[in-house]
Amino acid sequence: MTKPAGSRAEQHRPRVLMFDSGVGGLSITTCIHDMIPTAGLGYLADNACFPYGDQPEPVVVGRCVQLITAALEVFPADVVVVACNTASTVTLPALRAALRVPVVGVVPAIKPAAAVSGNRRIGLLATPATIRRPYLDQLIAEFAADCTVVRVGHGALVQWIEAWVAGQPLPLDDLARVLAPLARAEVDTVVLGCTHYPLIRETLQSALPGVAHWVDSGAAIARRTVHLLQATAADWPSGEPAMGGAYPLEVALFTGSAPPQIEHYLASIGLPSERLVPHWHGNN
Ligand code: DGL
Repeated sequence: MTKPAGSRAEQHRPRVLMFDSGVGGLSITTCIHDMIPTAGLGYLADNACFPYGDQPEPVVVGRCVQLITAALEVFPADVVVVACNTASTVTLPALRAALRVPVVGVVPAIKPAAAVSGNRRIGLLATPATIRRPYLDQLIAEFAADCTVVRVGHGALVQWIEAWVAGQPLPLDDLARVLAPLARAEVDTVVLGCTHYPLIRETLQSALPGVAHWVDSGAAIARRTVHLLQATAADWPSGEPAMGGAYPLEVALFTGSAPPQIEHYLASIGLPSERLVPHWHGNN
């Protein structure tokens, strides 16, 4: 049966605002879209300040609060997802204090990795900032105390992935050098502790064929988001197919220039965008 215009699904379309310093949060956005195809998604990237790993913590906290608050004015959402490990580890308390909607953050998936590792050797690939945050030590102590966790924090990897999304080749020899400590340690499980990394999962898998488990937070974040949407918007149209003509990504806001070829990339991952706004500073 054809759905009439202004149907229940249209009126109650749940909305989720996604946030990252760059394109990495798209890896989580695809998981959410797969799990809730009816949701309207907004994407905000603070790429004028990318990478967050190079920024002092107060700068990251201040920008997250200011930009996400402003984005909710133009894209009122039921839930905010901070789809960035580097930001989540420092900014969640301030965001939760400032916003009236629930905020979901991302932390490296140490707990699920410890649950699946057979040889108790786990590799953690993350940004240098995430690697040195005390929160990570707590996660490892709590959930992976019996494992050897080999941490690789690399600053340029996120930049390579941004360039790759824009059509540049990945520097495979450099990438192999970055991953060498994980190969040497013979880890059987790798945690992708930065949301950019799942975007190049296949390349990482080819570079480390001995790794049995690749773990990221995408599915868990999507499940948590569904749960919160059900709690905040009780009559949201779960299970109904995406509405004809609706774009999964209602808006994509970039504080810097729009990444080259981003429209093409968004379409290629099933997230075509209705509206792309470069140089967004919170008032347009
Ligand atoms: N996607 C971000 C993360 O998960 C990128 C980090 C950065 O901007 O330094 O950490």
